[in-house]
Amino acid sequence: SDHYAVIGNPISHSKSPALHTAFARQCAQDIVYGAIFGPLDKFAECVTAFRASGGKGMNVTLPFKLEAFAIADELTERARLAEAVNTLMFDNDRILGDNTDGVGLVRDLKENLGLTLAGKRILILGAGGAARGVLRPLLEEGPSRLAIANNTPSKAVALKEQVANAAHVSGGGFSDFKGEQFDLVINATSASLSGDAIPLHDGVFADGAFAYDMAYGDGNTPFMDAALAHGVAGVADGFGMLAGQAAESFHLWRGVRPDIVPVIAEIRANWT
Ligand code: ATR
Repeated sequence: SDHYAVIGNPISHSKSPALHTAFARQCAQDIVYGAIFGPLDKFAECVTAFRASGGKGMNVTLPFKLEAFAIADELTERARLAEAVNTLMFDNDRILGDNTDGVGLVRDLKENLGLTLAGKRILILGAGGAARGVLRPLLEEGPSRLAIANNTPSKAVALKEQVANAAHVSGGGFSDFKGEQFDLVINATSASLSGDAIPLHDGVFADGAFAYDMAYGDGNTPFMDAALAHGVAGVADGFGMLAGQAAESFHLWRGVRPDIVPVIAEIRANWT
């Protein structure tokens, strides 16, 4: 069998091994997928060691996505745009770096949650690495509006300018979008980690709107609960995005694209 692993810090709660093991079963691929705890100053050494032991590829999670971007010899277009790498493929003597987070989110929204993105108004909360990684794939779906709102408005403006020079895309502070309604609001901030609430203005959600939190855990996130209190039609956490990015990594490595829907249900049912 071929060996793969996810590397992160912390890593013990990672769902990546369960996802890839389920994909391998579904697609009849003979792989072994492990989890590696990366000491904060030893990322490159860990990658080199895994590769030397015969590893074929890795997923990279917090806090190493920028270091993974830096060690890649070759980058895909989407990794270059995201300025972060979540997938490494070892190919002879070169390291290929890819970023499947954005396409993973889009797959979850469309295939798993059944949403349409074309012609829709999308608001992204946050302008850090998580937001950056998903902007281009979302834009490619053809929304009629894409707004980026951030605590620090200048970061949202800078991100907008980097990604798109189009009238329907804009960046600013939370209050800059007061009075506007959105069909899909995506939380890409790390506010929930500090237990802070996100300032959602009344009327931000259009009729039938959906609220998506890139964070996930067992049960609703604070952002999902806040959105439900605003009367949204549906909410989801970011576990499906994790499954979507994993499926795209699997595709890069193995050439087959797993169906994420049954795998999401299976892992949710056995959540630990
Ligand atoms: P990540 O890679 O997860 O995006 P990051 O680059 O540190 O991490 O970005 C964190 C994002 O969450 C930023 O958009 C940050 O806002 P600022 O750019 O203004 O710092 C946002 N964020 C963090 N804590 C927040 C809070 N308590 N309320 C609202 N936004 C918050």
